[in-house]
Amino acid sequence: MGGSSGLGLELARALKATHRVWLTGRKDPNEEGVVFERLRLDRENLHVTSYLMDLLFKKIATPIDLVVFAAGFYQNKLIDELSVAEMDDMVRVSLLAPSFLMSSLLRHQASLPGFIVITSTTQWTPHANEPLYAASKAGLGMLAHCLSLDGRIKKTLVAGPGGMISGFWRNHPRDTSKFLDPSWVAEQILDQFAHQTTTYRAIRIPRDPRGVEVFAEEPKFFPVNISGESQG
Ligand SMILES: NC(=O)c1ccc[n+]([C@@H]2O[C@H](COP(=O)([O-])OP(=O)(O)OC[C@H]3O[C@@H](n4cnc5c(N)ncnc54)[C@H](OP(=O)(O)O)[C@@H]3O)[C@@H](O)[C@H]2O)c1
Repeated sequence: MGGSSGLGLELARALKATHRVWLTGRKDPNEEGVVFERLRLDRENLHVTSYLMDLLFKKIATPIDLVVFAAGFYQNKLIDELSVAEMDDMVRVSLLAPSFLMSSLLRHQASLPGFIVITSTTQWTPHANEPLYAASKAGLGMLAHCLSLDGRIKKTLVAGPGGMISGFWRNHPRDTSKFLDPSWVAEQILDQFAHQTTTYRAIRIPRDPRGVEVFAEEPKFFPVNISGESQG
């Protein structure tokens, strides 16, 4: 979901070699070898959004082994500069849409092998001019962490990248020349996911210096003393 451009599309491109990929967004990227479904996540009647997700899973029909939630958009305003509609859009796209998605999915199939969620380094680093964006990303990270605990989702990776070169900045001109390449970010995310042996992991992918840091992991591993008792 949110696979029609930028990082989501790069993840889809990498995954299509091994998976049958369905991707959603408002604009068709006309990408070969994937199935596109138009799905608007903002300003729609909430019941319609939830219903459209149910329809999507009925259409896909076969069990899904990996869900990637990458939808998101930028807002650069102080809290009293944001309109009610702008606040509503951010919460719908970043928090309610993934909630509906996972609720619908887990009503269609009993479990899910893999779940990748794209947040942002803003999830951990507050900025005065990104109050709803940062709060929604932090909430999305916590949503994914909570879902990873109920036993039905076998492996969850929350990835918070720093600035990337993508359509994300289309309405907020910024010098992105030193920003991350989304195809490199996609490669790091899929590599982390492939090697992840825990049910939950959160990674930060900062751009300066560029790298991948494991921020949190679950279940936590406690050192065991020589009598075999956990120190945790
Ligand atoms: N670029 C950055 O600097 C940066 C930094 C940190 C985190 N992120 C996060 O990374 C993720 C991917 O962003 P990106 O950089 O790849 O930007 P992007 O190219 O703009 O991609 C955003 C994706 O979200 C979808 N989307 C946005 N609003 C939507 C809506 N109302 N309804 C349905 N789909 C919607 C877009 O689809 P349509 O446009 O087709 O609707 C697109 O597929 C986002 O969650 C973003 O918050 C980006």
